[in-house]
Amino acid sequence: MFNEESHLAAPIRWGMVGGGRGSEIGYAHRASAARDRFFALTAGAFDLDAARGREFGRDLGLDPERCYADYQSLFAQEAQRDDGIQAVSIATPNSTHYAISKAALEAGLHVICEKPLTFTCAEAQELADLAKARHKLFAVMYGYSGFPMLHQARAMIEQGLLGDIRIVTMQFAHGFHSAPIEEHSPGAKWRMNPAISGPTYVLGDLGTHTYYLMEMLTGLEVDELCCMRQSFIQSRAPLEDNAHVMFKFKTGAVGTLWASSVNAGSMHQQKIRVIGSKASIEWWDEHPNQLRYEIQGQPAQLLDRGMPYLLKNDAICSRIGGGHAEGFFEAWANLYHRFAMAIDAFERADQAMLDTLWYPDVQAGMNGVRWLEACVESADQGAKWVKF
Ligand code: NAI
Repeated sequence: MFNEESHLAAPIRWGMVGGGRGSEIGYAHRASAARDRFFALTAGAFDLDAARGREFGRDLGLDPERCYADYQSLFAQEAQRDDGIQAVSIATPNSTHYAISKAALEAGLHVICEKPLTFTCAEAQELADLAKARHKLFAVMYGYSGFPMLHQARAMIEQGLLGDIRIVTMQFAHGFHSAPIEEHSPGAKWRMNPAISGPTYVLGDLGTHTYYLMEMLTGLEVDELCCMRQSFIQSRAPLEDNAHVMFKFKTGAVGTLWASSVNAGSMHQQKIRVIGSKASIEWWDEHPNQLRYEIQGQPAQLLDRGMPYLLKNDAICSRIGGGHAEGFFEAWANLYHRFAMAIDAFERADQAMLDTLWYPDVQAGMNGVRWLEACVESADQGAKWVKF
């Protein structure tokens, strides 16, 4: 079980771009990075509004001189300091990820970026190449992948408990945008603006999460896909508030993914079900401490986090015994813990350590963008099957 004696020689000096006052996801980054004391928030450019960003940073207890007006000043001025930041998290709207990530890598920083990583695959590839050339960590915040029961699911699939994988069904379908709330919500409004959100809305905002879970659990690679998308609230066109994708995988397995923000009455309904020749597993993000395991011909089992019968009880993912509910912040902290270990290994050029560390990396971010490009290509041709 994880205990707080694990530590680095010194916490990683860490900054943030975005995630300012009123942002949806800024606090989740700060709370999760702080959890194991591996990161120390020392600087930031938290807001598009420079004065508000500075005030916010000061309210967080930062040195006001290190609360910058924009990311360019943050990277340039921190690089001049002996105690400048070593890593940055980027929690800004999608249109800015590419430019800010590129500038961060060029400034010699390790990068943790929000999803969807970029608008195009070419941009994502450029970031991947740059991270490699500079020997920097580049992680993508697919936060759900930090839930321990998904690591159990991955281990079960790896060990063949399900048999041959035949079908994967995925969905992330909430109902919060069943009415045009973007008229009053800035956070919803940018998500439906292609100039800021990118070529998709729910596919990128929601679907990329579950698509990554499929990759992480099964390792399946898409051969062809077919996507249908529409906006039930007409003013959201050309971006979709609902989409269905069908997959043919290279192994012969098949799958579906439903992404929606108009699933009226639903909170999240992010689920992944992996069906094999012998058994199936199913995980639901609203009950993340459990994993359904159904062997054909036997009563269904509900596996619980933290129990000795699990295959996977690794130290990073194990913070408290079974029966105690863990949630979103622990899942994110599990990822930040891995990012810290990876950053430390990068700094020490410890390739052997890096080879053993799993985390959602720039390749995972790029795969998500590539998937989005294929979905748009298919949908724009009237739901045509396209080669991946
Ligand atoms: P938001 O609109 O609520 O907040 C964005 C924040 O970034 C604001 O504080 C804004 O002032 C600041 N900002 C915008 N441009 C900036 C710039 N150039 N420099 C400095 N600050 C800037 O957005 P939200 O919902 O927090 O989303 C941010 C990103 O996080 C998006 O890419 C979104 O897809 C992703 N996200 C990821 C989640 C996850 O589970 N991993 C959950 C929610 C959002």
